Amino acid sequence: MKVSIIGAGNVGSMLAARILEKDLADVILVDIIGNLARAKALDLKHSASILGFQSTCAGTDDYNLIDDSNVVVITAGLARKPGMSREDLFQKNLSIVKEVSLKVKKIAPETIVVVVTNPLDAMTYAVLKTTGFKREKVIGMAGVLDCSRFSANIAEKFNLPVRSIECLIIGMHSDAMIPILSHTRASQTNIKQIASPEQLKEVIDKTKGAGKEIVSLLGSGSAYFAPSAGAFFIVKSILKNSKRTLVASVYLEGEYDINDVCLGVPVKIGAEGISQIIEIRLSREEKKALKESASSLKQKFSKFSF
Ligand code: APR
Repeated sequence: MKVSIIGAGNVGSMLAARILEKDLADVILVDIIGNLARAKALDLKHSASILGFQSTCAGTDDYNLIDDSNVVVITAGLARKPGMSREDLFQKNLSIVKEVSLKVKKIAPETIVVVVTNPLDAMTYAVLKTTGFKREKVIGMAGVLDCSRFSANIAEKFNLPVRSIECLIIGMHSDAMIPILSHTRASQTNIKQIASPEQLKEVIDKTKGAGKEIVSLLGSGSAYFAPSAGAFFIVKSILKNSKRTLVASVYLEGEYDINDVCLGVPVKIGAEGISQIIEIRLSREEKKALKESASSLKQKFSKFSF
């Protein structure tokens, strides 16, 4: 198996380490700064005998090395700085992601693409439109991250094991994300029976602000341990054909009565990419919030052509 990661920064290199350490696939790290990718690949390779993996890793600025990749993960782009929203990255990262997508289309036309660059739902749409790949083959990683952050915050607030939490967050990877409380349980008890409305608001706000909190604490750069874990989970689901249900940003064609945008919804992911888009029952408010996110994304792209 072969996974190419475009962008050898914090998320890309941490994802490479996770894939290698589990011996999931050989890894090609590509960065516009070729020596950065080469240095990180060398450093990663030097951990093989300690950690006991056989998979190989190469770093490069030559896109020809991504040919025949089973999966290409796009992390190339700018990360947030304190005071910036994910949306502030839009213009700059759009041109980077379009440039990368054209190379992926040419050199690895059969691959499945996992998008991590922010703003996530917009970048996933840009990759889909620029590559012209089938929608099953373009997957945006954010929902698993938002759900994981929500689980961590619930576990901490109520002093519960994180493994006992099941939750669901759909919609945009932004403040407009939509926690689905009817699907949020701790030790099989619905969260509304455990948390007061004030406590719920607190954990939801903390989850929405998680990325921003990390950006402001770091001072430079943005989160990468949990984002790379989220990307790893999706790559693993593809390579192991797991078909587990998870939340990812995918192109909607009528599901949830929404068309022509990418948004986070529950899906099953396997060897062919997205094998199923799951339509869950939403409350009237949840439906309204999802439609509003779709409209705001459509408006954003109305002045661009692909
Ligand atoms: N081709 C290849 N690599 C590129 C290109 C390009 N055209 N443009 C930028 N890069 C590389 C940079 O050189 C840098 O090494 O992308 C890398 C990004 O790494 P970081 O700045 O460390 O950012 P990171 O924390 O990894 O986040 C990357 O993922 O979670 C999102 O919001 C985050 O959009 C950001 C992305």
